[in-house]
Amino acid sequence: MLDWLPENVSTYGSRIDFIFHVIYYLTASVFVLVSATMIYFLIKYRQREGRPATYTHGNATLEWVWTSATTVAMFALAFASKPLWGEIKQQRPPAEVEVRVTGKQFNWQILYPGPDRQFDTADDYQIDNDLHVPVNAVVHVHLNSLDVIHSFFVPQLRLKQDAVPGHNITAWFQATKPGVYEIPCAELCGFGHSGMKGTLYVDTPEEYEAWKLQTWPPAPAAEAAPADSAGAANPL
Ligand code: CUA
Repeated sequence: MLDWLPENVSTYGSRIDFIFHVIYYLTASVFVLVSATMIYFLIKYRQREGRPATYTHGNATLEWVWTSATTVAMFALAFASKPLWGEIKQQRPPAEVEVRVTGKQFNWQILYPGPDRQFDTADDYQIDNDLHVPVNAVVHVHLNSLDVIHSFFVPQLRLKQDAVPGHNITAWFQATKPGVYEIPCAELCGFGHSGMKGTLYVDTPEEYEAWKLQTWPPAPAAEAAPADSAGAANPL
């Protein structure tokens, strides 16, 4: 089996890869078969001394056969992939971590709800392009866009979802391996499209705790101050 896909670090990724491979090997086999047959016929029925090239108007029975076979294969693939599609796009497991990701030309704006786990409160923390999540947690990504259509893509998670202005679309994933992964924008969105990418940090529990401590430092005395949007601790 070909092994050129990026490493899969998502709970549902291997099942997507399986369907991908089924479709890939099916279409590749048909392509090879059709090409080989075509070349064979080109040679066999070519013009020769005293004989013109064979000309045919086609064969209705054969056309019925391959049209029906393709239709059956297409429906079979659709029904085979439907449960997985539903699991990824329709029924999400309950969120352990939530984050708002807003596409804008040409960055991913990441909004964390903070320790109170509520969005639009004083302890929210916003930064461009840095997405920290703990390993093995179900993460809900609430996607939106400020301008045009972008597409949130993490190849290693087998996750790709458009971010559409005016729509709140929730994608989810559960990463199984700590590491640093790219979040390229996968929808042509303007001149800066090719440079629009974020970074997904899948942290170990220790790394995640350390990042939280750095992002929301415990207030020394009074009420917790709103997090600095630049992310740097203010020494004053
Ligand atoms: Cu945003 Cu391409």
